[in-house]
Amino acid sequence: MRDGCGTITPGGAAGQPGHGTAAGSETSALTKGALIRAESIGKTFPDGLETLRDISVTIEPGEFVALLGPSGCGKTTFLRLAAGLETPSAGTLQVAKRGGKRPETGYVFQSPTLMPWASLAANIRLPLTLRGLPRKKADRAVAAALARVGLSDFADALPSRLSGGMAMRASLARALVAEPDLLLLDEPFAALDEMTRFRLGEELSALQSELGFTVLFVTHSLYEAAFLAERILVFSPRPGRILGEVLNAAPLPRLPAHRGESGFQDVVEALRRLLAEPS
Ligand SMILES: Nc1ncnc2c1ncn2[C@@H]1O[C@H](COP(=O)(O)OP(=O)(O)O)[C@@H](O)[C@H]1O
Ligand SMILES: [Mg+2]
Repeated sequence: MRDGCGTITPGGAAGQPGHGTAAGSETSALTKGALIRAESIGKTFPDGLETLRDISVTIEPGEFVALLGPSGCGKTTFLRLAAGLETPSAGTLQVAKRGGKRPETGYVFQSPTLMPWASLAANIRLPLTLRGLPRKKADRAVAAALARVGLSDFADALPSRLSGGMAMRASLARALVAEPDLLLLDEPFAALDEMTRFRLGEELSALQSELGFTVLFVTHSLYEAAFLAERILVFSPRPGRILGEVLNAAPLPRLPAHRGESGFQDVVEALRRLLAEPS
């Protein structure tokens, strides 16, 4: 059982709705091992808009966590806080450091944001170029990242030659090229057709299992959240609070057949109930 009130483990004996340790009472061992630990954080923007309220959550290394909630509830704001691009206006947010540095973080947006004038290889090389990595080393890393997402044959192509799904794969490759500890994905597949979305989800699941990075995946699709994540944090409408969390105990990586399993249906149902609760 992880932290947080209202953890639901569909079909499992361990977690009953409403069960869970109160925020702030985790053991120090968990704190030590945690990648991100938010304690009662809130975010109110300078214009007075309260976006997040009283968010307490601990993310452990290697976890695949989905953030599910309606548009405008503060999901992107939470990712930006996790990335260190914003600071909370209330509470404390701790991010584990390695060698005094923040975890290596990759960010993938709904729009692939590739430079249209540059080859795919040049696009994916950019984060390494910005860090001053020697060209030969960078080229090796780029080739490996392209291979991981199945785009080796398109290294020299311009982004305009890519389908939406391929452009998103390229965007993933650009995030993976720096070997992130933490991958933040903000509705990455929302603009894609359903079959492509399914396939990319399966590919992401396989990559995460192989490489072991931690994932925070923002979506407003409860099916996508249920399929991909080990743990789904359900947000209320703005100001976003965590209504509860749902666990999916099915092993990773998730394979297409998982969509037909009763465990998956149970998770979807638990999410649906949580989202429908008056907040
Ligand atoms: N820098 C900002 N200044 C003021 N308001 C902001 C800023 N960033 C986001 N917001 C507002 O905060 C709310 C939540 O935004 P966001 O985190 O993008 O929600 P979501 O990703 O869940 O759709 C929105 O009303 C948005 O307009
Ligand atoms: Mg958003």
